[in-house]
Amino acid sequence: MSVIPSRLRRSSSSLSITPMRRRDLKALMPIEQAAYPTSWSRRVFENELDQVAGGSRYYVVVRDGRELVGYAGLWIVTDPDGDQAHVTNIVVAEHRRREGIASALLVHLARVAVARGCVAWTLEVRASSTGAHELYRRFGFAPAGVRRRYYDNVEDAIVMWCHDIAGADYAARLDEIESSRTREHLSPNEVAP
Ligand SMILES: CC(C)(COP(=O)(O)OP(=O)(O)OC[C@H]1O[C@@H](n2cnc3c(N)ncnc32)[C@H](O)[C@@H]1OP(=O)(O)O)[C@@H](O)C(=O)NCCC(=O)NCCS
Repeated sequence: MSVIPSRLRRSSSSLSITPMRRRDLKALMPIEQAAYPTSWSRRVFENELDQVAGGSRYYVVVRDGRELVGYAGLWIVTDPDGDQAHVTNIVVAEHRRREGIASALLVHLARVAVARGCVAWTLEVRASSTGAHELYRRFGFAPAGVRRRYYDNVEDAIVMWCHDIAGADYAARLDEIESSRTREHLSPNEVAP
């Protein structure tokens, strides 16, 4: 696998999106633990990173070449009706939220999924995470079902799907999100999953 990092510039700082490596986990784990009541363990991330051949793809966002500020991952799932991507996790460090970092990550994940032949993507989100719902709506996700008490046997998960991601319309949507969220500082964004 070779992934050419996408480099994004925003005002005087730069963001780069690169494949997650084990050595990122030291900086990543405190962000994960602060983000969720029940977070993934280091072992879970290590297992995910070991599953690249099985369709796992994880990326980190690094600010100014030194600060890990977010990460996200997906699973590519083969399906006779067209391969699908399942977003497994996406987190941005609390002090860097509402700067467009999750949007940049999702644009990147979408392009990876499309480049891998996916025609749809899906995710689960906490019923209470209204901010995340809005983020996903911008990407064309729509609620498709509920998994009762999915989180810690307490909170419901909303299952969201977004179809027809391989076409020109969805590529245009990603371009539009990218240009609005990362503003005028975007340099060429190449994806080779
Ligand atoms: C959800 C999360 C990843 C969003 O990251 P982010 O980098 O702040 O998101 P962006 O800046 O790209 O937001 C894009 C848009 O999504 C919506 N949005 C994101 N967070 C929001 C919030 N807390 N409240 C309302 N809207 C929100 C807004 O429409 C926002 O656009 P705007 O800032 O121009 O209004 C981040 O809040 C997070 O890490 N939360 C904890 C982990 C989590 O819940 N992950 C999702 C699991 S399904």
